[in-house]
Amino acid sequence: MALDLTARAFTVGSSSVRITRCSPDQDPVHDFARAVVRGLSDRPRWLPCRFLYDAEGSKLFERICDTPEYYLTRTETAILRAYAHAICRLTGAATLVELGSGNARKTELLLEAYGRAHGAVRYVPVDVSEHALYESTSALVARHRQLSIEAVLGTYENALDLFERLSPLVLLFLGSTVGNLNQTEAAAFWTRVSRALAPGDFVLLGADLVKPAPVLDAAYNDAAGWSAAFTRNVFARMNRELGSGIDLGTIEHEAAYREEWGRVEIFARFTQRQIIHLRPLSRSFTVEAGERVMTEISRKFDLRELATYLSTFGLQTVRAFTDATGWYAVILLRRLDDGGSHRSRSVPRPEEPHTARL
Ligand code: AVI
Repeated sequence: MALDLTARAFTVGSSSVRITRCSPDQDPVHDFARAVVRGLSDRPRWLPCRFLYDAEGSKLFERICDTPEYYLTRTETAILRAYAHAICRLTGAATLVELGSGNARKTELLLEAYGRAHGAVRYVPVDVSEHALYESTSALVARHRQLSIEAVLGTYENALDLFERLSPLVLLFLGSTVGNLNQTEAAAFWTRVSRALAPGDFVLLGADLVKPAPVLDAAYNDAAGWSAAFTRNVFARMNRELGSGIDLGTIEHEAAYREEWGRVEIFARFTQRQIIHLRPLSRSFTVEAGERVMTEISRKFDLRELATYLSTFGLQTVRAFTDATGWYAVILLRRLDDGGSHRSRSVPRPEEPHTARL
């Protein structure tokens, strides 16, 4: 893929931030439209979850994180607050590279710990939202003089190419975003990450763990309705960007934990027949009353199984930090030097049915 690499820098006081834009050589609206065509042509229908996060979707997701039912963010934050220094001692000085940095609020706990232990800290946040990168990095440099920030506006794939230059590094993949990848995507992701890391580099992974279904069902169906608004927003985005003409009042949010697949499945259910237009491609789809479109999966992990799985990619668990209830884990992994033999090993689980592909 051809990349248009442009950089922009700004200063806050005596600190500077450099934002490098890695924009794929394609039109984002057509990219969105083509992805929608793929998903709506399939049965059951689905949409790639990356399109949930436009500016409005990112704001709605932050509201979800603040709800009493959505324990993930505050539990991960509490683990990082308790163990940031231990993590920093275990890795030694390193560049912190964060995939999907968002508002970077939790990351600040790590940046503070690394700053206290090692003085200067290099931080490389990677995000597809320019707004989120600008807002988070300007707030961070204003508060932390010892920080040097080289932000990347782009996808995870764009960032992997930079790892060689940034090593020794700790790759932060927090928030249990890993749970939004299905098994095929996860295997591709870990293969690429493992190849991009140098032996001795670290990964700090946030992972939501298996727990009783009622807790999970509540977390994805908050009483205030932010989860429902988040699901509806991807269709609002289709109206805005693709001229889809969907009556948003016909969409019901449906989320439930499927124990057999170890994942929460999230759908939009249409209460009335809708004709969905995709103006940039001159296409349209009819969705019947009662039909569902899957918008997201959120996998929940067994800590031991996850550690075994990651070891097949040459990533050895150094230490797993959990909360008192055992609901969530922050796992420190180290890239082993095994000559790459792990890459040929297969993943020991069957594929789920109708997965939401990215
Ligand atoms: C970003 N991701 C980890 C969230 C999750 O819990 O899977 C996305 C989310 N969707 C609805 N609620 C939260």
